Amino acid sequence: MTAIDHLILGQVLDIHANPFDVEPDGCARHIRRGAILVRDGAIHEIGEAEDLRAAHPDARVTDHGEGVILPGFVDSHAHYPQTAIIASWGKRLIDWLNSYTFPEEMRFRDADYANEIANRYLNLLLTHGTTSVASFCTIHPASVTAIFAAAEQRGMAVTAGRTCMDRNAPDGLRDDAQSAYDESKALLETWHGRGRATYAITPRFSPTSTPEQLEALGALWAEHPDCPMQTHLSEQTDEVEWVAELYPSKKDYLDTYEAHGLLKPGGMFGHAIWLTDSERDRLRDHGAALIHCPTSNTFIGSGLFDTARAVAEGQTVGLATDTGGGSSFSMLHTMASAYEIGQLTGTALHPAQLLWLATTGSARAMRQADRIGTLALGSAADLVVLDLASTPAIAQRQARAETIWEAVFPTIMMGDDRAVVAVHVGGRLFDTHKGEWAFPDASHSRPLNPLISDSLGL
Ligand code: GUN
Ligand code: ZN
Repeated sequence: MTAIDHLILGQVLDIHANPFDVEPDGCARHIRRGAILVRDGAIHEIGEAEDLRAAHPDARVTDHGEGVILPGFVDSHAHYPQTAIIASWGKRLIDWLNSYTFPEEMRFRDADYANEIANRYLNLLLTHGTTSVASFCTIHPASVTAIFAAAEQRGMAVTAGRTCMDRNAPDGLRDDAQSAYDESKALLETWHGRGRATYAITPRFSPTSTPEQLEALGALWAEHPDCPMQTHLSEQTDEVEWVAELYPSKKDYLDTYEAHGLLKPGGMFGHAIWLTDSERDRLRDHGAALIHCPTSNTFIGSGLFDTARAVAEGQTVGLATDTGGGSSFSMLHTMASAYEIGQLTGTALHPAQLLWLATTGSARAMRQADRIGTLALGSAADLVVLDLASTPAIAQRQARAETIWEAVFPTIMMGDDRAVVAVHVGGRLFDTHKGEWAFPDASHSRPLNPLISDSLGL
């Protein structure tokens, strides 16, 4: 026993195998009164609460009572600079970018503003149960510094990169091929691998980059192949047509990236809705990831991503908010939206599949599944604790549940930040309702919703 051992008690739900390959009951372990032993910020042991308490009598204890402990949510595509313009009305992609996004991103030339939004954004993530994100920044290096510094303060594993654009963007938001390369490289060298930071090479998308810029960023990626690369692909049909006009010599949208060294493992392609069969084959064969952004795809009217098809054909799929094109900071809302889009594309995704996509699936897409998005021993103790009876409407439905999946599904479909009782970041407890870090010894047992307490006779 070392002084820093920490026992976190609650219901433990460990989805240890891929529920797209294995039946729900074979892919998960549910410990009704379970415990996670955290040592040095990592998951050291999982078991029955009684057993671990007996084996580690000196560990400090945080008891979440009936709370369900899962890996913290992993959001594999977001734009933190769009925090303040989320839910902007009435536009489709290109008009939405020009009307709302670019003017807001312009404000990030002011480092104070970048810091304010980065801190606000990460607090919002934590209160929504998200402990890791892959975020675009803006063209301004200060926007990258702001998010990594805010993440470092909180101990969060954040992936981020300077968003590069050298055409089809307003004055003040354009760079060129060389400055995109130079500034990305300098930020990468400062941040990548510092603490829990991961630098992502980030061309916004082909319409806002010249071939020269994509080539330069492809070269940078070749020099740093362990970095991820994040961008957008085939989100809306008129965007796909625009790319064909801008790149007449390329055989399709994906080719604009592929021809410049931007298609390989570690590539994360947001949206990826309107793909040809050839693009689908090449994405899979090159080991890239498709990032499903369901609330964004409905909010901006982009189209329906067929998750079941993508998984069945062997794609790596992550799940993401795409804040602020996406209409939420919540991975619960994002799972609900993925479920509804699944219904519209012919597959009812199981709660185990939704939770897996929001944790391990996204972590795999980011090539970080060895350390986040999982309860595997040795991974970071980044955890979310859910109250499955957070509102009367949810409570009365889950009171009828006969399995853990039935119990958790109403929270997936109807839950929001009220369902997120706490997160642990590297084992450190953040009280999401108070919006503050708890003192090390805080006990954190929340009373059950009265409806549920009554139904359990408590
Ligand atoms: N395509 C290029 N930039 C963006 C963006 O900021 N949001 C979304 N949803 N799509 C994009
Ligand atoms: Zn995006």
